[in-house]
Amino acid sequence: MREAILLVGGQGTRLRPLTINTPKPMLPVAGVPFTVHQIMRARDAGITRIVLATSYRADVFASFIADSDLGIEVVIATEEVPLGTGGAIRFASGFLTGGSEDPVVIFNGDVLTGVDIDALITSHESTSADVTLYLTRVADPRAYGLVPTSSEGRVLQFLEKPQTPEEIVTDQINAGCYVFTRSVIDSIPEGKPVSVEREIFPVLLAADRAVMGVVDSGYWLDLGQPMDFVAGSVDLVLGNAPSPAVTSPGESLILTGTTIEASANICGGTTIGKGTKVGSNSEVRASVVFDSASIGSNVSITNSIIGQGAVIGDSCVIADSVVGDFAHIGAGNELRNGARVWVNAELDELVVRFSSDK
Ligand code: GTP
Repeated sequence: MREAILLVGGQGTRLRPLTINTPKPMLPVAGVPFTVHQIMRARDAGITRIVLATSYRADVFASFIADSDLGIEVVIATEEVPLGTGGAIRFASGFLTGGSEDPVVIFNGDVLTGVDIDALITSHESTSADVTLYLTRVADPRAYGLVPTSSEGRVLQFLEKPQTPEEIVTDQINAGCYVFTRSVIDSIPEGKPVSVEREIFPVLLAADRAVMGVVDSGYWLDLGQPMDFVAGSVDLVLGNAPSPAVTSPGESLILTGTTIEASANICGGTTIGKGTKVGSNSEVRASVVFDSASIGSNVSITNSIIGQGAVIGDSCVIADSVVGDFAHIGAGNELRNGARVWVNAELDELVVRFSSDK
């Protein structure tokens, strides 16, 4: 038996207002909650039991899992108060059944990746590591903590975000998936908030424990910010990102019960949620539209997220923006450049328009 912990208890503040009603890992991505893509990938890699470490809106996970059969045993652990990433791992370990020397795979609940999970576990076991981190290479490492490794794959340092070009000593970053030897998890202090990145990894390194890094150059994206969330969904729909939950990639994914006028164009990896309506001559490109939304005629939506039950009036332009659940956007408005409209908000006709446009 192989076990894993999936960290899904964060508040997802960077994705607000989408995470007001729904925790980030339960937001639909390419038609199913993001967490389903992760659970199915873990299952396909030979994990037989997974503990969901929940806290924020744990009820949403509990009812979904009760109604689903994902072909793997899913157990829910719920912290009464959020314990941070390290505290959550420690709390969830009480729900594991393996022995003290068994490997436990830990996934951040917002990372879309093609990493070879089986190879990561094999590497962990063959090096007798205490912890093995999955590392990925990024083109611009300035926004990330850096993780340089030796030629044997030993982690040398955990560095804060680099402030100067000299501080960019590597392009390797922590990709949000680890293998822990169970006994190492059980040494994390219990019942108090702990950050695995800031408190556990550096302490293990300082104690000269075997902290290894495996660099994988496959697909990797952190879906924690709106434009990355859209990009991840688009990549899944188009087949550019791997997931067993996407069986037939294509130009768009249109779920059941939708009404889409023949002259509307749904393209660029867009997902249209269940029961959503799209009016005539509208284009929805590279976007995610949740269930039961209503999009009028002559609307243009690009690189955006439209929340559940949201209503978009005729002739609106929405680009690189987020519309919260059940918001009403009156006809003719233009939202661009990272605009976010809150849950249930109402915009009258033509209140937001870009002056540079005619
Ligand atoms: P932001 O608020 O937008 O930063 O998102 P987040 O709350 O998801 O935080 P972050 O991306 O830093 O967390 C990484 C992973 O750990 C995510 O999958 C979170 O759901 C999870 N996580 C963060 N804090 C906790 C916690 O206190 N408990 C549990 N169970 N999971 C957590």
